[in-house]
Amino acid sequence: MPFALSEMSYMSDAPLDRVRVLLGVSGGIAAYKAAELVRRLRDAGAEVRVAMTANATHFVGVATFQALSGNPVRTSLWDESAEAAMGHIELARWADEVLIAPASADLLARIAHGHADDLLSTLVLATTAPVSVAPAMNQQMWANPATQANIAQLRERQVRVFGPAVGNQACGETGAGRLPEAQELVAALVAARGPRPLDGLRVLVSAGPTFEDIDPVRFIGNRSSGKMGFAVAAAAVQAGASVRLISGPVALPTPAAVQRIDVRSARQMRDAVIAAAGSHDIFISAAAVGDYRPRAVATSKLKKSGKPLALELVQNPDILAEVAALPEHPFLVGFAAETDDLERYARDKLERKGLDMIAANRVGEALGFECGENALLLLWPGGREELAMADKNVLAKSLIERVAARHAAVHAKTSKA
Ligand code: PMT
Repeated sequence: MPFALSEMSYMSDAPLDRVRVLLGVSGGIAAYKAAELVRRLRDAGAEVRVAMTANATHFVGVATFQALSGNPVRTSLWDESAEAAMGHIELARWADEVLIAPASADLLARIAHGHADDLLSTLVLATTAPVSVAPAMNQQMWANPATQANIAQLRERQVRVFGPAVGNQACGETGAGRLPEAQELVAALVAARGPRPLDGLRVLVSAGPTFEDIDPVRFIGNRSSGKMGFAVAAAAVQAGASVRLISGPVALPTPAAVQRIDVRSARQMRDAVIAAAGSHDIFISAAAVGDYRPRAVATSKLKKSGKPLALELVQNPDILAEVAALPEHPFLVGFAAETDDLERYARDKLERKGLDMIAANRVGEALGFECGENALLLLWPGGREELAMADKNVLAKSLIERVAARHAAVHAKTSKA
């Protein structure tokens, strides 16, 4: 088999895998701990961008955060070149999570009252992402009723409050007001995000076309680019799964934390899928597997003869049907690529192949194959749902949510029985 494994990338333990964290750093001695926090967030898989208040820059230099985050650091609303690269509203939209650590008493007061008089407070007002604050200040300032009222108001608005920790303070006093350790803040953020729908599950995905060789230089292929299947693999990782991706020949980078196995023909794909099926909980078959292959592959390049050339084709194995026939098989999600009568043919495939779910798409000129967008009709025994035309990455996320929900429902039923 012409494939290579990379177990290291497969078993990723990245609870914040590709989560975009906007880290706000406000002025306080604990700002130095935010440098370590950037490291720990990245270790957990997050992509980090840092926005500092002007006061924070008195404690830690911009260059430190720039080097640790690998991204430009923002400090002002009025930095024209930074605004041109990524405007503050764009940055607010970019974030999946806003975490402010340390959050000074002043910053808490300003965001509690909806101020937008500097970059960080403006970002907090403009974002739709969940906001978490990790207060750090002198213990009297923390205990002050004004700070407590601000915190209560923020909590009421669903702002998460991490800490403060209790202990010795830089000012020489002891009490509540310390910034929790970086690892504790990462754990708090992971916990606050809640469990992901595919946590602990192994998902096998097939993607792309298969190539069936005719001779050393020619083959029968199809127009699948692999985009849909690769997007499904990436979305499954984001949902918490360990993902193995079996791909036909495509020109796409491997999504982060995915173990990829490259194959060429339908029979190679079949062998790779069957070898993996028993150790996976869910199999999503997005590959456009060639139904036929030449009976024989010529060892030398076929020459023109001036006469018509007849190729005898034989049928390839139906991989999905073979997996469905295994005595213990994973939860099965097929795709159906149809030019006509989408729902009827897809439901027929769902039933005939014994699938748990099928994602049907219309294919044709600039439809389904190759392009960046797609629409899916999801069918399962007794149900249907249409997912409207969208970018394949967005669509894959919705598909994975539905797959996780159906898998959980079927699993709950079988464990009760
Ligand atoms: O790769 P892209 O350019 O992004 O395009 C995406 C896509 C159109 C290829 C994808 O969305 C899609 O529809 N994939 C399935 C294509 C296909 O082969 O459909 P089908 O209706 O012929 O097959 C039905 C199911 O059986 C599929 O899950 C297929 O993977 C599976 N199959 C088919 C034949 C075969 N010999 N073995 C199989 O396992």
